[in-house]
Amino acid sequence: MAPIQLLLISGSTRGASTNTAALRTLAAVSPPGVATELYDGLTALPAFTPDADDDSPHPAVAGLRAAISGADAVVFCTPEYAGALPGSLKNLLDWTVGTGDLYGKSAAWINIAAPGRGAGALAELATVLRYVTVDLIESACINVPVPRDVIGADGMAHDNTIRHALTSAALTIVDHIRERSSPE
Ligand SMILES: Cc1cc2nc3c(=O)[nH]c(=O)nc-3n(C[C@H](O)[C@H](O)[C@H](O)COP(=O)(O)O)c2cc1C
Repeated sequence: MAPIQLLLISGSTRGASTNTAALRTLAAVSPPGVATELYDGLTALPAFTPDADDDSPHPAVAGLRAAISGADAVVFCTPEYAGALPGSLKNLLDWTVGTGDLYGKSAAWINIAAPGRGAGALAELATVLRYVTVDLIESACINVPVPRDVIGADGMAHDNTIRHALTSAALTIVDHIRERSSPE
């Protein structure tokens, strides 16, 4: 059986990002039969312009589209900036609208903000994901706070509660993809 491909997209460009660390941890705890790609092209994407949204896109845009196309599911994990989605992540999402790259694509989000924080970013992400009509795997969308002090030198979260929550999310995604691809 071909591995299930998960594309992991962090909304943070910070070197020591906790959001990226959560996705790196998700990759590490994903079950056998899952292949993960941690997207690293966020800062290479040009500012979205409809004028360039054509058949010969910027290489970084082409790379983004290829990565989404090859994924069975996309998992987002993003910080909140100024009560909203980071502009760079919204920019990435804007590049997918006209070409419909995310339409019908299975997707989930992981919110690692401390309790009571990050609601603005999450609400905006939910709005955009609804707009581009992803197949949102709601039961895999989790709130699991990841404080900076649980991130080890390997760039992963070392905390059993967090790792357990991420494992459950990965298993839920896998079940969803298998169900979706199994014949009626
Ligand atoms: C420019 C900027 C704006 C921020 N705005 C908010 C905010 O509106 N709400 C919030 O809860 N945190 C805010 N933060 C804090 C970040 O969300 C927080 O530090 C987060 O952990 C960063 O994610 P990262 O570790 O993945 O880079 C802001 C941080 C920066 C740098």
